[in-house]
Amino acid sequence: MNTDAVTADTEARALFTPLTIRGTTLPLRAGVSPMCMYAATNGMVSDFHLAHLGRFALGGAGLVIVEATAIEARGRISHHDLGLWDDVQVEGMRRIAGFLEVSGSVPGIQLSHAGRKASVREPWRAGAPLDESDAAQGLAPWQTVGPSAIPAGPNWPLPHAMDEQEIGESIQQWVAAATRAVEAGFRFIELHGAHGYLLHSFLSPVSNTRADAYGGNAERRMRYPLEVIGAIRAALPGNVILSYRVSAVDGVAEGGLAIDDIVEFAQRAVDAGVDVIDTSSGGISADRSTDTRVRRGFAFHADFARELKARTNAVVACVGFIIDPEQASRLVEEGDTDIVLLGREMLDNPNWVHHARRGHAGDEFEHWDRRFGSALEPRQHSLRALAASGETPLTRFAQYTEA
Ligand SMILES: Cc1cc2nc3c(=O)[nH]c(=O)nc-3n(C[C@H](O)[C@H](O)[C@H](O)COP(=O)(O)O)c2cc1C
Repeated sequence: MNTDAVTADTEARALFTPLTIRGTTLPLRAGVSPMCMYAATNGMVSDFHLAHLGRFALGGAGLVIVEATAIEARGRISHHDLGLWDDVQVEGMRRIAGFLEVSGSVPGIQLSHAGRKASVREPWRAGAPLDESDAAQGLAPWQTVGPSAIPAGPNWPLPHAMDEQEIGESIQQWVAAATRAVEAGFRFIELHGAHGYLLHSFLSPVSNTRADAYGGNAERRMRYPLEVIGAIRAALPGNVILSYRVSAVDGVAEGGLAIDDIVEFAQRAVDAGVDVIDTSSGGISADRSTDTRVRRGFAFHADFARELKARTNAVVACVGFIIDPEQASRLVEEGDTDIVLLGREMLDNPNWVHHARRGHAGDEFEHWDRRFGSALEPRQHSLRALAASGETPLTRFAQYTEA
């Protein structure tokens, strides 16, 4: 990625300035991180997805990334993941991308293959591998795949080790899904290369012990993800942004990838056609007893994002417990990241960007959709007037007496 293509207005708080990559402009740098909702049947979009994702666009997000979307049916995490492995799945996605676009957000999607961590239950059922008790309810487990026949953790099923022909077919599936995503109207395509899923499992020596062209040393472990990136970039229109989510560290007690490995891979990914590196961590092992996860402090991936930004040509995105607008702004202003992604905070407050802007960039309601912004403006005046007259019936409105 040529960083000259990135433009920024430094006059205002950087979080609210646009970012142009490949001629596609994010109106501001706060976006919504991909989050599985387990609401799909046969990989198809439902009304739930449109309502759920639409509220973030109405809430002012500069970028909304649709959850991990499987490139083939056996690449789903659960039975209820979204998919783009079939042309019939395009139409529902088009509704989502279209709504995000007209509401002012850049429509993004994360393409994914869960590899050896596929075929599991939803998180509220502990995310455990499906078994025969699920099969009795019509949710049968399926054969997972990976670089090597190594299970993700104790009591996890043995994945089938993909042969070279299957690897070649899989690359075509990535390309086909990316092509469908473009057809649906997405302008930001992220590849899920983190959290122990298929791309990550090829990269990491924890899960890849192959002795052929796709394993054995760092160079060969990078090969599958780099081939996927190269093939997708060649198939994408020039103005579609390609992002790649990395686990900046494997977070296992022994033998996992460290930030230096990921910096090297990230630059290779950029050379192969990636524009944005999205910084996450962990997930290569499902064995919690050996898990040395990154501590969940505020902005807990910021140090990794900073390294990736300083040591590669990537535009960098950062996610992980970023909830405070001041901290989010500083992350951009101080060079930790170019894009801030929020996950759970957006679930809690889909209007986060609007509220952050009001508190932060002196903006009241002009960036809200006028269909509700125009109603909130006079309401705000009423609240202030009531507070000035001493009428503060609820503690919730105490803030207006301070103004
Ligand atoms: C309900 C839920 C679903 C998630 N699904 C995905 C996903 O599909 N792809 C992904 O890369 N990360 C996924 N994540 C991780 C988030 O994208 C994000 O990286 C993580 O929650 C940390 O950010 P936060 O502290 O702002 O929530 C998910 C997280 C949550 C809470």
